[in-house]
Formats: sequence, C-alpha cells, structure tokens
Amino acid sequence: MEPAQRIAELETALATAERQLIESYPMASLGRLLAGIVHEINTPIGSIVSNNEVSARSLEMVRAKLRESAETGTPPPPKVLDVLDTLVSLSAVDRMACDRILSVIRGLKTHSRLGESDVRAASLPELIVGALKLACSEYKRRVKVETDFAALPDVECYPSQLSQVLLNLIVNAAQAIEGEGVIRLSTRQAGGMAEIEIADTGRGMTPEQQAKVFQQGFTTKPPGLGTGLGLSISHDIVVNQHKGSIEFESEPGKGTVFRIRVPFTQPKP
Ligand SMILES: Nc1ncnc2c1ncn2[C@@H]1O[C@H](COP(=O)(O)OP(=O)(O)OP(=O)(O)O)[C@@H](O)[C@H]1O
Ligand SMILES: [Mg+2]
Repeated sequence: MEPAQRIAELETALATAERQLIESYPMASLGRLLAGIVHEINTPIGSIVSNNEVSARSLEMVRAKLRESAETGTPPPPKVLDVLDTLVSLSAVDRMACDRILSVIRGLKTHSRLGESDVRAASLPELIVGALKLACSEYKRRVKVETDFAALPDVECYPSQLSQVLLNLIVNAAQAIEGEGVIRLSTRQAGGMAEIEIADTGRGMTPEQQAKVFQQGFTTKPPGLGTGLGLSISHDIVVNQHKGSIEFESEPGKGTVFRIRVPFTQPKP
C-alpha cells in the first residue's frame, strides 16, 4: 500500500475512533484511555523516528557515492548495495511499526465492544520477534538479546493485544538495564498452558516496588519516560482478556524475570 494511502487510512481510523470514544466514554475514563493509547503508540513511533534518521543519512551517502561515480565515470562501490539492503530492511520494520499503530487504533473498537471476535491462532515466537523489532530503538547495540523457543503449537489469542504485552515487557526490560546487559526470551509448554519468559539482567526491584508494579500509574521512571501504565494494561490483557497469568521474580541489582502463561484455546464467543 502507498504511504499516502496508509496515512489517509490512519487519519480516517483516528477520526472514527475519536468520535466513538467521545460518544461512549465519560470524561475521566476518556482521559485514562487516551493516556493508554499514547502509551501504546509511543514505542512504534520511536522506532519509526529512529529509522528515519538512519534512512536520511543512508540516502545522503548513496546520493554522494552515485554522484561521484557519475562524475568520474566509474561504477559505484559495492557498499552502495549494502546500504540499499539496510534501507529495505528498515522500511520493513517501519511497516511493522505502522501496523502496530493501526492495530492499537483498531483495538479501540474492542474497547468500545464493537469487534471482539478477532481471536485467532498465532505463533508466540513470531509475536516475540515482531515485538523485538519494534523495541529495537530502546536497546540498540547496548543490550544482547537471546531467544530460546521450544516447539509450541499455535496459541488462540488476540494477537495484537499479546504483542502489546510483549512490547511492554521488552521495553521495561531494556529500560531496567543501565549500560550493557542481556534480555533472554523463551517459550515452552508448562502446566497445559503456553509459557513465555522475559528475563533481564537489569537493576531489579525492591520488595516495596514489587508490591506496586501492577498498579495503574506506578512508575519509578522520570516523567516523559514512564507513565506507569504498561504493566497494568498488560495484566488486564493477560488475566482478563486471555484467562492467563502474569507473575515475576526480581532481585535488586541482579535482574527480573516476567512469566506469562496463556491457555492454548479461548472460549468461543
Ligand atoms: N523488568 C523490570 N526491571 C525492573 N523494574 C521494572 C521492570 N519492569 C517494571 N519495572 C518497574 O515497574 C514500574 C512499572 O512498570 P510499567 O511498565 O507499568 O510502567 P513504566 O515502565 O514505569 O511506564 P510505561 O510503561 O507507562 O512507560 C517501572 O517504573 C519499574 O520501576
Ligand atoms: Mg513500562
């Protein structure tokens, strides 16, 4: 789809969502819902902005090389092709980021109880890899990511909502790591459920912080970085929407492991 067409679609979706919201929500919960939307589109937009900077620099570089080769009558250096490959893969990530934003906006329909039937079977490793690409601008080269995906049947779920949970947990893990560290993601079958673990070597949490993590608005991050909504939204999605569980273990100075379990099938609506 052409970028202009995507933007037009996005604008229409936004206008529709805004109208639905205003019609169906009292003011206080409207504010909370809008804060949630801003929270969920923040990371994909961050990813697009950061890719855009790289793209702009790369295009400058390609132009300079092509101009040089035109002026000197020599073929352009092979490096130009590498740069073009990078640009192609960046645009694939941008496309995913746009899809994420669109799906958040479509998700508003679910909130306003218009379309709750988009349960489908999804591959958890695929959802994780997608979320990692979007969170990339949070961790860049600073954090090493390790994955260990055990063979797992597809899971019936609301894929876009589970992606949102994964993105929240990965961004939290990356933000908990000062300087260098490791995020380890794994999947397995446990207790008849599909299990995902997200472990980080970050700063961990004190017992006081651990008691509050799922509370709406609890954050230890500076304003602008944290709104304290990520885990309360994630808890709601896993526990209420998917009848699963979300728990964690954390040790100050050592790191944190979040563990999500979701059933393989969802009740038919
Ligand atoms: N992996 C982690 N390691 C250490 N602390 C964490 C981790 N995940 C969450 N926390 C703590 O829990 C708090 C709440 O997390 P939550 O995701 O709900 O909000 P936030 O990350 O602060 O802000 P937001 O997600 O809205 O941008 C964080 O501020 C942080 O103190
Ligand atoms: Mg968070």
